[in-house]
Parts: sequence; structure tokens; C-alpha cells
Amino acid sequence: MKHLLTLRDWSREEILAVIELAARVKKRPWWYRRKLKGKTLLMLFAKPSLRTRLSFETAMLELGGHAIFYDIATSPLGKKESIEDGARVSGLYVDFIMARLYEHETIEEFARYSPVPVINGLTNSYHPCQILGDLLTIKETFGHLNVRLAYLGDANNNVTHSLMIGCSKLGIPMTVACPRKKEFMPDARIMKETGVKVVSVQEAVKDADVIYTDSWQSYHIKDSAMKRRRRALMPFQVNKNNFNSTAYFMHCLPAKRGDEVTADIIDGERSLVLPQAANRKHIEKAILLKLR
Ligand code: CP
Ligand code: NVA
Repeated sequence: MKHLLTLRDWSREEILAVIELAARVKKRPWWYRRKLKGKTLLMLFAKPSLRTRLSFETAMLELGGHAIFYDIATSPLGKKESIEDGARVSGLYVDFIMARLYEHETIEEFARYSPVPVINGLTNSYHPCQILGDLLTIKETFGHLNVRLAYLGDANNNVTHSLMIGCSKLGIPMTVACPRKKEFMPDARIMKETGVKVVSVQEAVKDADVIYTDSWQSYHIKDSAMKRRRRALMPFQVNKNNFNSTAYFMHCLPAKRGDEVTADIIDGERSLVLPQAANRKHIEKAILLKLR
């Protein structure tokens, strides 16, 4: 269990164990408040963040450790300094590295040379910490993980890809509804690997216990693409016409009301967005404890 770059890195048993540990840590946080005493987490950010930064930083603090926020924009990394040197040198000072980067290949390269565990805090292709936290939220909401999940919207997406891998590892049936264009479709390799199918909105939401969507403008997508993307994605918006009232709504946030979801749904009583955000801290404590 050296790194967490994608959920592929962890077995079904390891994923279930980390969810169990997060639930225990959440229930009795004081038991764990010295577990990472004297340990330091480096948090490298090439993109903005609210939840990932705050949840990792508070997680380290509450485990007795310390976190360093490091903005890639003010670093020589990838410019004057190679990823290899950056990874080797960072590992001389800290015990863990969490990185939020653009290309997934960059974090793979970083992890290859890092002497300490590397955690993916989001790349263009994957967001494993988010999905581990979401699985904890599902378990708490339903009392089990025997649910059916529908994902609507932009599916060529880090959150979708990690959901596909997480759901397939845990045997959670998942369907995707998205425009049938490469720009919006999940990665073909991940579809093959997980068996997740693209279906119509009606078919996806029909028996879904959880309806999940994500931003139509992920951090790496330019403003200039949005007019065209909105037009293509609007039939996949989560709203009262397709929201099955016995389902729960999930979204990793940040969200734009009126784009991927309407306000009545995201702010309504079936929405789990705040428990999802809260669980990021608990799952990240469990991830750090597992990787230590
Ligand atoms: N969900 C999530 O990762 O949010 P941030 O971009 O604010 O970290
Ligand atoms: N798909 C989104 C997730 C944000 C947490 C993005 O990459 O911006």
C-alpha cells in the first residue's frame, strides 16, 4: 500500500478496510490525535482547491502532525527542476506527499521517484480520495453498500473514472448517461475494465439509489469551451424532470447551480453534498493512517 494514485492501486479488501477505519476515526477522533505526531504532509497544488486543501490540512493537525501547503506556481518543479529531483528531494523532508496536478502521468512519475507515499489529490483523470469519502457517505446513508448508482453529465471526468473503478471493485452497479461524443464519454479503457455502460438518462435514473453529477467545467477546462459544452450537456442536467424522488443526490463540489444540477435538487432534502464534503476529512485521516 505504498501510494494512492488511483483506486486500481488498492484491492476491494483494502478499500473496505479504509472505509471502516474512517468510520472508527470519525466516531472517536480523540483516540487518534497523536497517531501522526511529528509527521509532515507536503501538499502540492497545481490547481485551486477548497475541500482537498482544508480536509488534508485539518486531518494532519487532528492526528498530531503538520501539513505544508505548496503552490506549484511558486516552485521550480517541472520547469527549472525535474519531477525526479523534486520527488527525491521532497521525500528528504516529509513523510507523505499529496499532489493535485494536471496530467496523471506527472503524478505517476513523481511517485516513481518518491521515497515516501504519494496520494493523488486529483489529476485530470482520477480523484480517488473523493470516491473513498463518497463510499463512506453511501455506507452511512444506507447502512450498507448494496446500492445502484447513476452518473449524469460530463463523464470524461476524473470523478466519474474513479467512481467507475470504485463501484466495480465493490460490486456496486453503476450506469452513465452523457453525450455520445468522445469529449464527454468515459475513457474507453476504463469502460472496458469496469464494464460500466453508457445508457439513456431515463434508463440510468430508473432504479438508481444515488444520482451523481459533477461540474461541467473541471479545473482544466477553459472558459472558451463552455458555451458549446453547456449546449451539449444540458439534456444531462440533474433536475426535477429526471430526479427519481427515492434517490439521493451526490456531487463532489464545487457545483454550478443551473448547469449540471438545479438549485432545488442540490439544496433539497435528498442532497448529500455536505456529508460528502465533511467525510473528506475522516477518509483522509484513514488514508494517511493506512499509508504511514
Ligand atoms: N471535491 C473537491 O475535491 O473539492 P476541491 O476542488 O475544493 O478540493
Ligand atoms: N471534475 C472536477 C472535480 C473537482 C473536485 C475537476 O476536475 O475540477
